[in-house]
Amino acid sequence: MDSLTNKNVLLGVTGGIAAYKSAEIVRHLKKSGSSVRVVMTKSAEEFITPLTLQALSGNRVSSELLDAEAEAAMGHIELAKWADAILIAPATANTIARLSSGRGDDLLSTVTLAFDGPVSLAPAMNQAMWRDERTQENLDRLIQKGYEVCGPGSGEQACGDIGLGRMLEPLEILQIFSNSFTKGKMSGKRVLITAGPTQEPIDPVRFITNRSSGKMGYNLAEAAIESGARVTLISGPVDIPKPSNCNFVSVETAQEMYDAVMHHVKEKDVYIGTAAVSDYKPVNTSNLKIKKDGSGKPITLELEENKDILKSVSELQDKPYVVGFAAETDNLLVNADKKLKGKNLDLIVANDVSDKEIGFNSEQNEVTLITLKEKTLIERQSKKKVSRQIIDFISDQI
Ligand SMILES: Cc1cc2nc3c(=O)[nH]c(=O)nc-3n(C[C@H](O)[C@H](O)[C@H](O)COP(=O)(O)O)c2cc1C
Repeated sequence: MDSLTNKNVLLGVTGGIAAYKSAEIVRHLKKSGSSVRVVMTKSAEEFITPLTLQALSGNRVSSELLDAEAEAAMGHIELAKWADAILIAPATANTIARLSSGRGDDLLSTVTLAFDGPVSLAPAMNQAMWRDERTQENLDRLIQKGYEVCGPGSGEQACGDIGLGRMLEPLEILQIFSNSFTKGKMSGKRVLITAGPTQEPIDPVRFITNRSSGKMGYNLAEAAIESGARVTLISGPVDIPKPSNCNFVSVETAQEMYDAVMHHVKEKDVYIGTAAVSDYKPVNTSNLKIKKDGSGKPITLELEENKDILKSVSELQDKPYVVGFAAETDNLLVNADKKLKGKNLDLIVANDVSDKEIGFNSEQNEVTLITLKEKTLIERQSKKKVSRQIIDFISDQI
């Protein structure tokens, strides 16, 4: 998080249970060398005292829009001019709604409205509030405006519910937030990557999946982050650690991956589909474990096609630069070329998965980058290095 050194960070704290974690956020920001000013909503003061945040930040905490004392030295416009970036953590459903509609009826909303730089939000709320379509629409509007949304995570909530809506941990938020300041060839670009396999349930204990390890997608995510991009990684179940500094979304089925992609693809500059999405899923999923009847007769599993995520993204009216992967076992370049044109992609990365040295689960890769204009071979090397070259190639195209 070196990029946070010497930066002016305005931390907005709003009225949710997770407000107690904002103290830790201030502490980490200070440790990373940032100057921190805290703006609290009135409700936030019910959850954590301004004094705590003042002591940790070393600066007076502001909450009043009309504050004669503050107005003389640093009013809402001065605060907006002072900040290099705004982080609102936790961000309540209420504050998200108010920011989305451009309200300026308290200090935090007014400063944010007057601010012309990167704004990141770490939503924290009950799972039903998070799922509500009004919350989602409000967030969509803010994402379209360029706001970064960090999380939320899923798990047990303070109210006892289980689901999406928990605020991410302070360090996870700050790793994503620190990207606001990263400079590189992809600086400021928003990249959506899918990775790993999907699992299509047959019954509660069995599913259809494939051998995708997710390594290529995870390496690409890391390379894009290194290059300064803001990355959202949507991943099927894999056995590798998730990259830090990215917005991570975990899914299981192809339908969940489709829904997550369609939700997150808005306002993205680049979409990279490395996930090995199952082409088919069982028509019926049994709620009970399917048992052997001992007759020795074959049983039939009826399958239906899943939605084509890559094609759906490239058919979007406002489509990003779309990158597909062609993992082929024969006629590599011919099949990859067909996929490039058939799915209206901007770039296809072709690799030969019949070669055990470079296929699924291996550490190495060798790929050919195919666009309508050119074919470029990236020779056999670690997936990490191949990923950096792919990201470099993409950054020259966008
Ligand atoms: C005990 C308690 C916990 C709350 N936790 C949350 C929360 O985690 N997320 C949220 O969006 N609202 C939560 N609320 C509701 C907000 O506090 C309420 O909407 C408030 O108006 C938010 O104001 P603000 O956005 O200006 O801070 C909670 C309310 C109470 C009483």
